[in-house]
Amino acid sequence: MEALGIDIGGSAIKGAPVDTRTGRLLAKRHRIPTPEPLTPGQMAKAVKEIAADFSWKGPIGVGFPGVIQGTHIRTSANLHKAFIDCDGGKLFSKAVARPVALINDAAAAGLAEMKFGAGRDFEGKVLLLTLGTGVGSALFSRGVIFPAELGHLPFKGRSAEKYVSAAVREKKNLGWKEWSGRLDRYIRVLETLLWPELIIVGGGVSAKHRKFFPYLKTNAKLVPAEFFNESGIVGAALWAEENA
Ligand code: BGC
Repeated sequence: MEALGIDIGGSAIKGAPVDTRTGRLLAKRHRIPTPEPLTPGQMAKAVKEIAADFSWKGPIGVGFPGVIQGTHIRTSANLHKAFIDCDGGKLFSKAVARPVALINDAAAAGLAEMKFGAGRDFEGKVLLLTLGTGVGSALFSRGVIFPAELGHLPFKGRSAEKYVSAAVREKKNLGWKEWSGRLDRYIRVLETLLWPELIIVGGGVSAKHRKFFPYLKTNAKLVPAEFFNESGIVGAALWAEENA
């Protein structure tokens, strides 16, 4: 009932042991900043450092910001390109000398929010978006997950995440109103295609939801993620419990 969840992100890798019955972190998370994109080998060392810090001997789950097929990583939009087609499951398992279950980072966030957070007990159609370095997404219907890559929906001639991510807002110094306008247009396109009943917005910026939610017009119920940006750790641990 305890698993180590590790969340690989654009600017840091974070991990903590999680009580998978409650979704609570059992210790302060270990965070390693990654100012430069790490190679797969360097990332494996960081994963090993986190597991060693907690002297971890139980299941381990790793959330990665790219398409996951089985144990393989297929895309790496914001991290080192050497991850593309790398057997991430094997790489990380070898580093920690135990089985590691790999999952997309937004899918992990979705699992945590649906089990313990903003989507708990919700049976309808859910769209979870994580707004960070990139835009992650996952869909749920009757609690069943479908990991998706909606951050790469072509928008204004490029991946939507290049237009609406939280990183773009900071880099381009966009005001809340201007950035929300972009997000609103993007969400409307998603809504036309998917008609979610609930939209959960995660990522660090979701802590400031009061600044931008009022500008978003959607038919769905719009809520911030309850775990803010810790859902990746919790979801990776949940995934590990069943798959490591
Ligand atoms: C990646 C997704 C990931 C998202 C959030 C995107 O660039 O393609 O797989 O979930 O960023 O990290």
